[in-house]
Amino acid sequence: MTQKILILQGDGIGPEIVAEAVKVLHWLVGEGLDIEFDIGLIGGSAYDASGHPLPEETLQQARAADAVLLGAVGGPQYESLERSLRPEQGLLGLRSELKLFSNLRPAILYPQLAEASTLKPEVVAGLDIMIVRELTGGIYFGQPRGVRTLENGEKEGFNTLVYRESEIERIGRSAFEIARQRGKRLCSVDKANVLEVTELWRQVMTRLGAEYPDVELSHMYVDNAAMQLVREPKQFDVMVTGNMFGDILSDAAAMLTGSIGMLPSASLDANGKGMYEPIHGSAPDIAGQGIANPLATILSVAMMLRYSLCEAGCAGRVEAAVGKVLDRGLRTPDIATEGQATVNTADMGDAVVDALAEEN
Ligand code: IPM
Ligand code: MG
Repeated sequence: MTQKILILQGDGIGPEIVAEAVKVLHWLVGEGLDIEFDIGLIGGSAYDASGHPLPEETLQQARAADAVLLGAVGGPQYESLERSLRPEQGLLGLRSELKLFSNLRPAILYPQLAEASTLKPEVVAGLDIMIVRELTGGIYFGQPRGVRTLENGEKEGFNTLVYRESEIERIGRSAFEIARQRGKRLCSVDKANVLEVTELWRQVMTRLGAEYPDVELSHMYVDNAAMQLVREPKQFDVMVTGNMFGDILSDAAAMLTGSIGMLPSASLDANGKGMYEPIHGSAPDIAGQGIANPLATILSVAMMLRYSLCEAGCAGRVEAAVGKVLDRGLRTPDIATEGQATVNTADMGDAVVDALAEEN
């Protein structure tokens, strides 16, 4: 059956990087992959066109799709908008409406990029971590939230970090299942020494651990986890954590791989339907210049093939093709070491397609 992919380019470098990922998908269609495309608007570009960062039409398209490929949202021109109209709300709304609670962020160091990392090559060589981030709860969505004015006229901002047992349990299960298929080690990250909600998080994870005796469960406070990620990242196999801690730790993990331009993500619902996006942002500073790294988006396509389209073979081919172009020394500026020649966004996409074609 033909599967439907919704393409949401978004803002900034979004259209540039998504175009390269779509090239890869088109090539796979030529090889027999049975998908069709739909295109929609999200973020600032949706606001410009329709007055809202997540138009009703986009939501319907996303619901009707088997998988969503998203570029990035946001830009300085939207920062003064009322919060509910800002581009990020489009993305958060989509995650929440589609119940994409399980966010997988694999930080894998391609050996060719060991020199591109700001850490010593021996610290990062062979790195392969999976961060499982809870994506539809926690402080990102907790109520009450807002800014109020106190009696003395001073303003006070507040947000709520809240997790129910059932929310912790379902993300915990995702993480244990993934750990089971990998190195069988799961580190749950919390701040149980200070925050009650994460004390509950730790209790639930511990309870779940009894159901997964084959997975070695450990716990770590988030401040220590941040330190350990840059000190000795290879100690980790799978990490599971809440929405905000996961946002922060995954950016740190991305840099271990040489560039945030290398890290893809999958956001899955309970049935494996997913949205796929690079973890980096819309990079307005380099938008329109054709120099953004499309590899995180192309690797997000590989995750889409694997998790939503049940095409593990195709996914592996895309990942291998990325490895090949890196072998050949192709580098966008973000992953180039000093003095190394660089290619532009479109060249990089073309090179991945060429590498795919060669395998035949
Ligand atoms: C991410 C991003 C988003 C987040 C922003 C753009 C809302 O940083 O996907 O990591 O905070 O989740
Ligand atoms: Mg982030």
